[in-house]
Amino acid sequence: MNNKRTSVKTDNGLIIVCENLESNPHCPHGPTLLYKRMSGGKETRQYYACSSYQNRKDCSFMFSNKTVEERKRQIVIKERKRLFPGDFTELGERLERLKMLKPSERFFCATCSTLIFLEEQNEHTEHILKNDVTDHLLTHPSQLLLLQSDSKREAQFMFSVNAVEVILSGLKALNFNKIICMGTPTIHERIMENKDGMESILLDIDHRYLQFYASGQFCWFNMMNCFPMKGQHTFDRVVDFLHSDNVVVLMDPPFSARSEPLAYTLTKLDSIYQQQMRENPLPVVWIFPYFKEKDIVSARPDMVMLDYDVKYTNHKKFNESDKTSVIRIFTNQDASKFALPDSEGYRFCKKCNRWVSKHNKHCDKCKICPSKNGQPYKHCDICGRCIKQSWQHCYECNRCALLKHPCHLWQTRIVQKQEKTVVKDAIKRKPTMKISKAAKKRMKPNERSKPI
Ligand SMILES: C[S@@+](CC[C@H](N)C(=O)[O-])C[C@H]1O[C@@H](n2cnc3c(N)ncnc32)[C@H](O)[C@@H]1O
Ligand SMILES: [Zn+2]
Ligand SMILES: [Zn+2]
Ligand SMILES: [Zn+2]
Ligand SMILES: [Zn+2]
Ligand SMILES: [Zn+2]
Ligand SMILES: [Zn+2]
Repeated sequence: MNNKRTSVKTDNGLIIVCENLESNPHCPHGPTLLYKRMSGGKETRQYYACSSYQNRKDCSFMFSNKTVEERKRQIVIKERKRLFPGDFTELGERLERLKMLKPSERFFCATCSTLIFLEEQNEHTEHILKNDVTDHLLTHPSQLLLLQSDSKREAQFMFSVNAVEVILSGLKALNFNKIICMGTPTIHERIMENKDGMESILLDIDHRYLQFYASGQFCWFNMMNCFPMKGQHTFDRVVDFLHSDNVVVLMDPPFSARSEPLAYTLTKLDSIYQQQMRENPLPVVWIFPYFKEKDIVSARPDMVMLDYDVKYTNHKKFNESDKTSVIRIFTNQDASKFALPDSEGYRFCKKCNRWVSKHNKHCDKCKICPSKNGQPYKHCDICGRCIKQSWQHCYECNRCALLKHPCHLWQTRIVQKQEKTVVKDAIKRKPTMKISKAAKKRMKPNERSKPI
C-alpha cells in the first residue's frame, strides 16, 4: 500500500507530520502528532499535540519537543486512567448479570452514560435515569447513548437505515465476512444482530461501548494514531481478523479529520495484513466527504469514489430529507460490485463499469460520468473537462467558475505565478538575465490556479 506522503498541509497553515508516531510524546489518547505552523512559506513553530481532539479544551497536552520529563509522563498515564478507570473483567461480569435480568430491572444513567442495577440507583440521585433497557437496546448501544455531535470531537453521526443496507449489501457482494468496524458502531450492531455469516469487531474512541461488549467485540482505539487505548493485548482479535481472508476495514471518521493520520493507521493495519503474504493491499471502505477525494487519493492512490450519497439519522444537514449530502463511499475494491439502489435513481454505467447517481450523465469527451456532487455537469470545450451546471467559462481569467468570482484576483495570481516561473527559468538559464516589462506584459494568463 502506498503511503509515501507522510505530511499534509491543513487549511490553517499547519503541516502535520505522521512519521514514527511511536516515538512521539504521548497524550492520554496515545502518540501525539507533530504539527508545524507555516507562514509565508517558512516554519514559524512546531509542537506535538493530540491526534484526535482538535480543540485544546478537549485535550490540553502539548509538547515542544520529543523528550518529555518523567513527571509529565506520569501525569499523562494518570489522565488516561482517569478517562476510563474500570476494569474489563468486572465490566464483562456486569454485562452478563444485566443480560439475565428483565428489562424492567435494568437501568441506564444518561448523566453518567452507564448501565446500572436497581440497587445502584441511590448512587445516581438527581441523574437522568432510563428504565426498561430492552435486549434490543442492550445490543444497540448507539440508540441508548447520548451522541456527541461536535464535529471537532467524536462527531457521532449514525447512518440512515438505507445507508446501512447499501453498505452491508456492498460488503456482502464483495464477499467480505470479517468486518473491522472503525468508527462504525451501527454496522457493527447490525452484523452482531444478524449473524448471517459475517463477524465484526468495533474499534472506536468512545469508551462507553466497553460496557456493552465482550473483549473480542470492541476495542477502545484511536484511529488517528492506530493506538489501542487499553494496551496491545486488546488488539489481538483485530490482528486475528487481519490475518484472515475476506477481511475489510470499514471506517467513517469525523468529517473534519485529516486524511494523513487515517492513512497512517491504514498503512499500519495493512502491514499486519501483509504478514500473510498477500497479493493485494488491505481492502478498505472509507466514508468521507467528496471534496476530500484529492486528499484520500493522494494518500492512497488505489481508492475510488462511489456516487452513493451517505445520509445520517442525526445530522442537521445530511439527514434523510431530500437534500443531498456531501458524504461518499471510497473503496479500493471493484466498484462495479458495489451496487447502488435503483429505487433511489442510481444506475449502472457500462462505460464506467460502476454505479452512478441519477443526474450523473456519461460524457463521451471526458469518457467518464463526471459529477462529484450528484448534480448535473456540462462539458467546457475550452477547459476540456466537465464542470458544474452553474459555472461558465470566463475568458478573462481563462477558467470555468461561478458568474460571480474574484476574476481580478485570479488574473493577478496567474500573472504572479507566471512571473515566478519565468524568473526561475531565466535564473536557471542565465543568472543575470532581466525580464523586460514588455515581456511580462506579453505573458498570457492561461493557467488555472485553483482546481474546479
Ligand atoms: C461520523 S461517526 C460514524 C458513525 C457511523 N456513521 C455509524 O453509524 O456507525 C464517527 C465515529 O468515529 C468515532 N471516532 C471519532 N474520533 C475517533 C478516533 N480518534 N478514533 C476512533 N474512533 C473515533 C466516533 O465515536 C463515531 O463512532
Ligand atoms: Zn489527546
Ligand atoms: Zn449517574
Ligand atoms: Zn459513465
Ligand atoms: Zn466532459
Ligand atoms: Zn472552461
Ligand atoms: Zn474570470
